[in-house]
This record gives sequence, C-alpha cells and structure tokens, in this order.
Amino acid sequence: MDKLVAVGGKQLNGEVDISGSKNAVLPIMTATLIVAGNYKINNVPDLRDTRTMVRLLEIIGAKVDYTNKTLTIDTRNCDNPSAPYELVKTMRASFYVLGPLLSRFHYSEVSLPGGCAWGPRPVDFHIKALREMDVDVKLDKGNIIAEGQPKGGDIIFKKKSVGATGNVLMAATKAAGKTKIINAAKEPEIIALGEFLIKLGARIKGLGTDNIEITPIKNENNNVEFDVIPDRIEAGTFMIAVATIGGEVSIKKINCSHLDIVTNFLKKIDIDIKINKNKNSLLIKSDGKYGAINIETSEYPGFPTDLQAQWMAMMIKARGDSTIKENIYSDRFTHISELIRMGANVRLKKETAYIKGVNQIYPAPVMCTDIRASAALVISALSADGQSEISRIYHIDRGYEKIENKFSQLGANIKRVKS
Ligand code: UD1
Repeated sequence: MDKLVAVGGKQLNGEVDISGSKNAVLPIMTATLIVAGNYKINNVPDLRDTRTMVRLLEIIGAKVDYTNKTLTIDTRNCDNPSAPYELVKTMRASFYVLGPLLSRFHYSEVSLPGGCAWGPRPVDFHIKALREMDVDVKLDKGNIIAEGQPKGGDIIFKKKSVGATGNVLMAATKAAGKTKIINAAKEPEIIALGEFLIKLGARIKGLGTDNIEITPIKNENNNVEFDVIPDRIEAGTFMIAVATIGGEVSIKKINCSHLDIVTNFLKKIDIDIKINKNKNSLLIKSDGKYGAINIETSEYPGFPTDLQAQWMAMMIKARGDSTIKENIYSDRFTHISELIRMGANVRLKKETAYIKGVNQIYPAPVMCTDIRASAALVISALSADGQSEISRIYHIDRGYEKIENKFSQLGANIKRVKS
C-alpha cells in the first residue's frame, strides 16, 4: 500500500490549478443514463471515485473513454439497470444511479450503502421521496429494488440533503408530471447537476434556492457537452493549507463565489486574500501565524463539513482556543485522534471539538480514515517540523487528484512511496 512521506517546515509558494469538482461530476456521470445518447464531459478530475463511477456505468452497459480530462460516454446500449454491492460499498455516491435508472428503465436494483467511518449514513430521504413519487421500493437481500415510472408531485424534505435532492431531480426529469422539491439542497454541485439536466431537455426553475420545480423532458437532447465546475473543497483545502503552513500562493481555475464563507473566516483570522476581478483565482498570503475562531458546519452557503477536518488542522496551532461544531455528521471526527498524535490539544464533547492552540506540531506516523481527514493530516504533517508518514492514502486518492504533486509544485517536501 502506498504512503505519503512529508517533511514539514517549508512554506508554500507559487501557483496551483484546482481540478474539476468530484461531487459535481459523480451525479452528472449518472445523469448520462437518463437519455440514451452521447456525452462529452470536460474538466473531469482523475480520481479513484471517478474511475469507480466509470466502472459502474460500464456494468450498466455504457461505453466510456477518459482522455485528457474529458469523459466520452455512450449510453445508447445500456441494458443492466443495477449497481452491485462491490462498487456501492466503496463509493456511496453510486446510489446516485437510482434516480437516472428509474427515469430511463422505470426499474432499478441498487445495493443499499452501509455506514461509513463516521457512522451511519442513511438513505431514508431518497426512499421516502421516491415512494411519494409512486415508485414501488422494496428491500431484497441488501438491494433496493425500485419499480415504476416516477409520477412527480410535491416532495418535502424535513432536512436538506444533497444526495436526496440530486436523486429526486434526476427521477423527476422523465416523470409523468411536474415535481416540486421543497427544502432542496442549494449546493453549487446541485446547481451544476440541474444545469446538465436542463441541457438534456428538462425545464427546471429555482436551482440554488430552497424550492426547485422540474418540468419533465419533452424533446430530449441526446448529444450533450458539459464543463464540470471547479472543486470548491479542493480549493478550500489549499487555502487552509497555505494559511496554516505559510507562504504566498495563487489558487487558480476556481469559482471564488463558491468559497465566500471560507474566505471570510480566513480573513477574520488575519490571512491576506485577494480575489481577482474575474473571480476565477485568488492570491493567499500567510506567515503561518493566525488567531483562533469558532466555526460550525452547515449546509451551503454555510461552512462545509467537507472542510471541517482541514480547518481543525489549522486551528490546532492557532494563537488561542477555538471550537468546531459539526452539525451535518455528528461523528465526523476520526481525524482528532491522529492530530493528537501530532501534538494537538483537542477534546470532543458531543458534536463539538474544543481546541487549545499549541505552539508546535510534531511529526508522527498517522493513518487516513476518510478523504477529508486525510487532507487534514497532509496539512498537519507539512506544518510539523520533521518527517511524518501518512498511511492508507487510498482514501485521499478518492477525492484529490495527485495531491502530492500539487503540494510539491508549491515547494513542499512530500512524496509517495510504495510500502
Ligand atoms: C454529500 C457529499 C459529501 C458531503 C455531504 C454534505 C457527494 C458525493 N457527497 O453527501 O461529500 O459531506 O453532501 O455536504 O456529493 N441524511 C439522512 N437521510 C438521507 C440522506 C441524508 O438522514 O436519506 C442526513 C445525513 O446523515 C446528513 C445530512 O442528511 O446528516 C446531509 O447529508 P447529505 O447532504 O445527503 O449528504 P450526501 O449527499 O450523502
């Protein structure tokens, strides 16, 4: 198994290009199943998760090519509306095929995802919503068997869910009538998915607001090209890394509007950030010294749970004490025990981490537990004086494209070794 060997103590300087968004491209890949056709999707990151999704599309019967960050997908001959456990267990986003398969085949068999490193991650909102759309949903040997043409209607979510909003959006594109989603997710990745579905021929109003209305496709477009939006979580990870480690870095190929909350919080702890006038790059400067601030995660446009671990890697060496409250996934704290191995002073009480800033972070062998926790360990290792080894990095490869190359390009001492 590969590991990363990182020697901290060097500031980051130069520029880094951010890749296309993992959480935007995964549902869009599944949406190509809705209309039998040919698709070209540009700015696709080369990740374990995008490769897993390619395998899943191939099992369903699609022909897929991935060259120079462009995916070409031919879904004309798809004939196997199912997603096996082997893939769903490695990537929960596989569950996104449910809506598209129901739209196209009025039938789908998708393995029920289990829990994950940070506790149970239910899919009850997806199932309840589909039942409300008149789809017959049964559980058989760990698989969800869903049957029937979605009929549309009013779907009210009691809590915002990115995945359930995405699945209902996709199930609604070929429904028998209009669908209204009330209390929909507003994440940029949901807006991107909606824009892709509009290109397929659906009429969608209210993207980016709490209520979305979908009028099903009348004249379908079976030849669609789409550019994936920049990955705001990768961009935020690099912003937090520069703030923590110190240096001056231009972060390019981003959408700064998607990063408002991170930018505002970093500015509050005296990190210098200048956004260019096109809002597609920013310059961030830090001497690696900053104040402490309390944050809590929430749905977009709030502070993303996917940057919570990285933010903690920064706060553990802040000048002062802080708290981080996790409102989306109350158990998403597996990084704490690893950060403590590097000298952090963090105490967890329910869903709030109480952090006392320390003067120094020490190198240590540490282990990745999930995608974003791994990024936190890289940041922490690069801010420690000495050599750390980060193992189980298959987690990081799920969501970050060649992270060690991007950090090395900024002058960091980090390499991948086979062990
Ligand atoms: C997506 C992102 C993930 C991110 C999360 C929250 C992808 C591929 N993944 O995950 O990176 O951390 O949004 O921004 O885009 N819930 C239920 N029942 C459900 C569905 C969700 O109780 O049926 C709860 C969850 O446990 C959680 C909250 O709703 O507490 C939000 O989860 P959700 O937005 O659905 O997350 P995902 O779409 O799985």
